[in-house]
Amino acid sequence: MSKFTLNGNPVEVQVPDDTPLLWVIRDDLGATGTKFGCGIGMCGACTVHLNGRAIRSCITRVGDVAGADIVTIEGLDPAGEHPLQKAWIETQAPQCGYCQSGQIMQAATLLADFPDPTDADIDAVMNGNLCRCMAYPRIRRAIKLAARELRAGREAEA
Ligand code: FES
Ligand code: FES
Repeated sequence: MSKFTLNGNPVEVQVPDDTPLLWVIRDDLGATGTKFGCGIGMCGACTVHLNGRAIRSCITRVGDVAGADIVTIEGLDPAGEHPLQKAWIETQAPQCGYCQSGQIMQAATLLADFPDPTDADIDAVMNGNLCRCMAYPRIRRAIKLAARELRAGREAEA
C-alpha cells in the first residue's frame, strides 16, 4: 500500500511498491493527462512534479513516493489558467499534443530555476522532453511568454 498526495488530495493505493507511478496515476487514480511514451525515462511524456520538481513517473516506483506531494498537469492549475497553460494556448504550441503535458510540467521546473530563461537555458532543461511533431520553436516561444507573464505578476505584487 502507498499513500501520497495527488494534486492536493490524499490518496491510498493497494499496489506492489515497484509499480511505476505512471501506471498508478493513470490506471488507479484516473489522471490521464500524464502520458506514456517510452517507459524508460527517455522521452519526458510522463513528467510530473514530486515535491515541486519534475520527475519521470514511468521510472519512479510508487513505493518511493510515500508521503510525497505529486502534481500532474491536472493539478498545475485546476482552472487551466497557469501562465504556462495560457501561453501554450496563445502560441498554439501543440501539434498532436501527446508530449505537451510533460513539456509543461518540465517547463514549470525550468521557470522556477530560470525566471528569465535564455534559449540555452531552455534547451538545457527541456532537452529530455521529446516532441515527435518538432514543435520545439513554439514551445520555446510559449516558455518565454509565460516567463514574461510570471515576471510581470511578481513585479505587480512587489
Ligand atoms: S514515458 Fe517516461 S520518459 Fe518516456
Ligand atoms: S506535439 Fe506531437 S509529440 Fe509533441
